[in-house]
Amino acid sequence: MLQDQRKILVTSALPYANGPIHLGHLVEYIQTDIWVRFQRMRGHEIYYVCADDAHGTPIMLKAEQEGLTPEQLIERIGASHRADFADFAISFDNYHSTHSPENRAVATLIYERLRDGGHIVKRSIQQAYDPVKGMFLPDRFIRGTCPRCKSTDQYGDSCEVCGATYAPTDLIDPVSALSGARPEQRSSEHLFFRLGNFENVLKTWLEEHELQSGVVNKLQEWFEAGLQDWDISRDTPYFGFEIPDHPGKYFYVWLDAPIGYLGSFRNYCDRTGVDFEAFCGPDSEAEMYHFIGKDITYFHTLFWPAMLKGANLRLPTNVFVHGFLTVDGQKMSKSRGTFITAREYLERLRPEYLRYYFAAKLGPEIEDIDLNLEDFQARVNADLVGKVVNIASRCAGFLTKRFDGRLSATPDAPELLEAIRAAAPSIAAGYEARDYARAMREVMALADRVNQYVDRRKPWIIAKAAAADAELQAVCTTGIAAFRLLMALLKPVLPRMAAEAEDFLGGGALTWADLESGTPALAIEPFKPLMQRIESEQVKAMTHTGTEAPPPAAEMAAPAVPDMDPIAPEISIEDFAKIDLRVARIATARHVEGADKLVELELEVGSVKKRVFAGIKSAFEPEDLVGRLIVMVANLAPRKMRFGVSEGMVLAAGPGGSDLFLLTPDSGAKPGMRVK
Ligand code: 2FM
Ligand code: ZN
Repeated sequence: MLQDQRKILVTSALPYANGPIHLGHLVEYIQTDIWVRFQRMRGHEIYYVCADDAHGTPIMLKAEQEGLTPEQLIERIGASHRADFADFAISFDNYHSTHSPENRAVATLIYERLRDGGHIVKRSIQQAYDPVKGMFLPDRFIRGTCPRCKSTDQYGDSCEVCGATYAPTDLIDPVSALSGARPEQRSSEHLFFRLGNFENVLKTWLEEHELQSGVVNKLQEWFEAGLQDWDISRDTPYFGFEIPDHPGKYFYVWLDAPIGYLGSFRNYCDRTGVDFEAFCGPDSEAEMYHFIGKDITYFHTLFWPAMLKGANLRLPTNVFVHGFLTVDGQKMSKSRGTFITAREYLERLRPEYLRYYFAAKLGPEIEDIDLNLEDFQARVNADLVGKVVNIASRCAGFLTKRFDGRLSATPDAPELLEAIRAAAPSIAAGYEARDYARAMREVMALADRVNQYVDRRKPWIIAKAAAADAELQAVCTTGIAAFRLLMALLKPVLPRMAAEAEDFLGGGALTWADLESGTPALAIEPFKPLMQRIESEQVKAMTHTGTEAPPPAAEMAAPAVPDMDPIAPEISIEDFAKIDLRVARIATARHVEGADKLVELELEVGSVKKRVFAGIKSAFEPEDLVGRLIVMVANLAPRKMRFGVSEGMVLAAGPGGSDLFLLTPDSGAKPGMRVK
């Protein structure tokens, strides 16, 4: 049953406007977007806002390096971020910038209320100053020798070699990374936010909300360590908002970044008439959630709720923290080719492959997730293409050809459809709790059941029987109705594929309510494949687009040397020339009844078709083979086998069993091309 309509405001962390969106960022935007789309499908009033995080020293300096004003830089990067998000189907209701009039207004309001409430104090502090560049230096812009291990060229706050953390004044022989000058210590007056004033507020907030256990533990550690005042000002030159009553001083970027959530929402409300106060005011009954990465928990669970309280605004309902992304078990790395930007991915692969893979891996806790590229390819191919799309492709053709696309009013297996509907509440609970991994497992288990049903009822056999029309229509109707329910369940994860499925099914937009009612009288459009398999070349090409050269050989893991068959006796070049190797496309593939090892393949070799019995059943499911390009011996004399005549041989490597690898040409090769 649909719950009462909820009012919800959701945010993802604001990406810095000085670099591209990469796959690490996308974990969060995809995680949030799935949640938001699920809530929309349930009929709730929900707004999803975000913005570019445009202020701070790194952005100011990058613009300078590029000969641009900061405004020009953030404009350019902002446009690329928007395009990347749109292409990954991230459905923001508003995407704004922290460098905006709305954000200045909210930041000023919050600052003035904190100041008037006695929560801002002034103090002089000593800081590193670059006399050549004429500016105070953030710790990251000071380099020197580590006081502990004596490694040279380390950052001003921590050593990458021994892991020590220290104050910039502890560095030996410090220099400014900007000018090379030796920094001076200069004092300047700064404004501090008195976080300690909010200890009780924060403890109550913690008690009254169901934060993740990892967050609760962290907060307790921080309370025990004592809450420190927070420096919220920076001296000129700085790219940000000047503090209204302190000319020459600017709000630190981390002050106006979370405020940017409200700035973006304010901009949205002003344009659309949505009531800002109803979501953000002190008496708001709406829910407000921030999705963030674990590295910025401190800002979002201490400073941010405290600032909101001090400014008499509502506090977050929850902060949902996720872990980091690794690729093939390691930190993303340019030299390994695994620092993959959103754009590099999009040039090779459909966004929904990644949306599904992340969904299949994301749980509700703060755990890191790994994008294992082989597993990514295998899982998407097996689940989305091999299970979900397969259902429709096995049933749709008969309905189109024999029944003009019309579905039967009486499906053959209503209990199967009922079982899918009965699972919907549990899958909804998975989405709600951000346990998408569980939700995806449940959906795929249902898809397995539907495929088993189709295997058992064999519409392609029924189709051959005389006078079996009603049965064929009822069986295929069951398959298509089940496919429709599965697409509704997957719609938050696969919005584009769901839209294509909606066009194919002809019953309007799928909603969660569709999972609660019977199947409408549908007439389907002719089936077009809704998703193609991921080919290895696409994945490989994506990991080789890094801008840096590949690592030196010594850095790469030595490949495992497999036990190898001895090399066969020599043959002459004339002998070799007799073998006609060709690129072929697997047009159809099926199990051979009674054969343990064989798969029957129909191969397209240019305009010629060949039937081949290949001993590859132990390693491949026939449906996973269809459409693949392979290499075959095309002029092998036909051989009569127990199950029929085989007209060629498919080339594969490996010892056998499940350890078998089909030879595949590079992308661009066409069926019929000679392999020489
Ligand atoms: O860590 C970051 O990438 C920050 N730009 C996130 C800001 S989130 C929010 F507070 F604005
Ligand atoms: Zn060190």
